[in-house]
Amino acid sequence: MTTAADPVIVMKQEVGKAAANRVQSDSIVGLGTGSTTAYAIEYIGERLSQGELSNIVGVPTSFQAEVLAKKYGIPLTTLDAIDHIDVAIDGADEVDPQKNLIKGGGAAHTREKVVDALANEFIVVVDSGKLTDKLGSTFLLPVEVIPMAMTPAINALAKLGGKPELRMGIKKAGPVVTDQGNLVVDVKFDSIDNPAELEKAINNIPGVLENGLFVGVADIVLIGEIIDGKPTV
Ligand code: 5RP
Repeated sequence: MTTAADPVIVMKQEVGKAAANRVQSDSIVGLGTGSTTAYAIEYIGERLSQGELSNIVGVPTSFQAEVLAKKYGIPLTTLDAIDHIDVAIDGADEVDPQKNLIKGGGAAHTREKVVDALANEFIVVVDSGKLTDKLGSTFLLPVEVIPMAMTPAINALAKLGGKPELRMGIKKAGPVVTDQGNLVVDVKFDSIDNPAELEKAINNIPGVLENGLFVGVADIVLIGEIIDGKPTV
């Protein structure tokens, strides 16, 4: 069982709080997905309920984010009702020195890319374990594929040099299904030398909706670290 003293959880909490503290009143906020952003959503809700923040409206990147935002009292809107997003806060699975990301560990990267890319400022919240010199070194690259195209898409991903595997859910009882009703293929690439090129090549495969490479989207990366035994951002 994990407890609040787990250093990774403490880092996630601190970095989530730091991001929430950057949100200003009268703003439209993209609400990311995952365990780190969940803390940011919680703290935005806390600031709202304490009267520290007002007139905030959120754009959720997933059903999970929507449920959390409702739980913590953040009013929500959709992209049809707004003309901009002031700031988006979202996690990542890997971050390279150029602030390029791999996302999609929570199978939400398609909607995350739409919202995060629209934001005037996209703040990434990660613990220090997510930093890497080269994308793909520790995390598989998630690719959302429409179900009828799964086999040809897997073959095409292998032709691009990857080792694709359909993502299975809990106890491998069935595949993970995204909020859009699609499947996720996780792909191991030995080396992602040109993330921008690979992002485009994968999205060119018929039946692929979106992949988890976020190139040139992030503006700020907040990193949670434990320094001298103390959580630091
Ligand atoms: C979901 C994501 C998440 O932001 C990413 O997986 C990081 O999650 P966590 O903060 O739980 O480590 O991309 O699709």
